[in-house]
Amino acid sequence: RLLILLVALITISECKKLEEVKQTARKFPDGFLFGTATASYQVEGAWNVDGKSESIWDYLTHTNPEAVKDMSNGDIADNSYYQYKRDVEMMRELGLDYYRFSLSWPRILPTSFPDYINPAGIEYYNNLIDEMLKYNIQPMVTLFHWDMPQKLQEMGGWNNPHIVDWYTDFAKVAFEMFGDRVKYWITMNEPYEICHHGYGNVNLAPMLNLTGVAEYLCAKNLLVAHAKAYHLYDKMYRPSQKGKLFITIQSPWFEPENEGETETARDIMQFDLGQFAHPIFSKNGDFPEVMKDKVAAKSKAQGYQRSRLPEFTAEEIEMLRGSSDFFGLNHYSTHLVHRNNGDTVYAQPSNYDDMNVVTYQPSDWVASATDRNKVVPWGFYKLLMWIKEEYDNPPVIITENGYSSLPGLDDIGRVDYYRGYLNAMLDAIEDGVDVRAYTAWSLMDNFEWLQGYTVRFGLYEVDYEDPERKRTPRKSAFVFKEMVRTRSLDN
Ligand code: NOJ
Repeated sequence: RLLILLVALITISECKKLEEVKQTARKFPDGFLFGTATASYQVEGAWNVDGKSESIWDYLTHTNPEAVKDMSNGDIADNSYYQYKRDVEMMRELGLDYYRFSLSWPRILPTSFPDYINPAGIEYYNNLIDEMLKYNIQPMVTLFHWDMPQKLQEMGGWNNPHIVDWYTDFAKVAFEMFGDRVKYWITMNEPYEICHHGYGNVNLAPMLNLTGVAEYLCAKNLLVAHAKAYHLYDKMYRPSQKGKLFITIQSPWFEPENEGETETARDIMQFDLGQFAHPIFSKNGDFPEVMKDKVAAKSKAQGYQRSRLPEFTAEEIEMLRGSSDFFGLNHYSTHLVHRNNGDTVYAQPSNYDDMNVVTYQPSDWVASATDRNKVVPWGFYKLLMWIKEEYDNPPVIITENGYSSLPGLDDIGRVDYYRGYLNAMLDAIEDGVDVRAYTAWSLMDNFEWLQGYTVRFGLYEVDYEDPERKRTPRKSAFVFKEMVRTRSLDN
């Protein structure tokens, strides 16, 4: 009898524990969607196959291999051009609602223009889309994720105002070819990175390093191209295709080092995030005032006749305002900020000089395998609250969030990162932020730009020794799958 009593007591206590776990599990809102993301150059490979022409990343990695940390490139990458069925199988294993991938412009339009539409390129994306839809996984398609046709770059790329038409022509082909099945379109991925890191610095192709002028020209042309594509879709395609179209902006959270630096943090938020969000999501359809003022003042002090920041015309402002159905947000990390007093030893991303701001991360914050990407979940909460306040609570889709590790399947750091950041996101949702979907970067390891294959972002590990590029789930893949299956976060 004593034994029976003991067993009964143990059972009761186990049940209680289970009950407690259930109570701490936090539910995602009804209808909340989960996906993962990749981008064409980072996964496809087949760089010169079936009529594809050269992109700026093919050109950079082939002409200047030392630019990439391990001197690697995306010639084969994850071999997804041939392995797309395995990719879709992984999406099914994870139970995803959607998958975010990008189109390679030079694969679809090898001359850069629609005088010739490459049938093999169209077929590849048709196959991928149809394979996903077979299993009810929705495509979320990024039109431009950095692999600009090299030929267009030679004509100035984002610095040539004609890019607005070239880009819109490309977007039109995509809507016509795939819009019957694609209901989520992203125009641009991370404009700040494209312009300031690729044109104003040497952190991304085309590594122009034309600091101060070209990067702002790029920002203006890119924003206008986005807005033009939005209106094209809205007028010509939305009535029959009934999809959504939006832009994806990357932003860290910038935390003042102390109370005295509150304005500094505001300035850099407006510069980094506001530069691309303000023209689209604020009422006045223009660059943030504080950014316009500071760039103008600095330009004047330097002896320029006019501000290095170009102006939008009244027509462009009209076109930009409200030109996005969601606020697409990529977020990775948080930085502390203070006013630059000339005391800095920190490497600056281009071009915080115009705002006179220094950013850094304290050494005791939890690190990842990427510089300047420490693990700071509370920053994600604050950023989401800021977007809600600043832009009148727009519907948000998290289009990227993730953690870099070294190779290996036991990626507990990534598991902790996702738990922390998803908890912070749920806090923000509870406090009224309208987040609709969450995208993990990335489905699998891939070519991490100038870091090559030295750091890994995947829920699945990719074996780069294997000619087929075998994929194996990491611990984080099992945890993520469980979150998606239960629609809850089990703490
Ligand atoms: C930003 C970019 O969109 C993506 O291409 C990159 O690999 C990840 N974040 C990680 O750095």
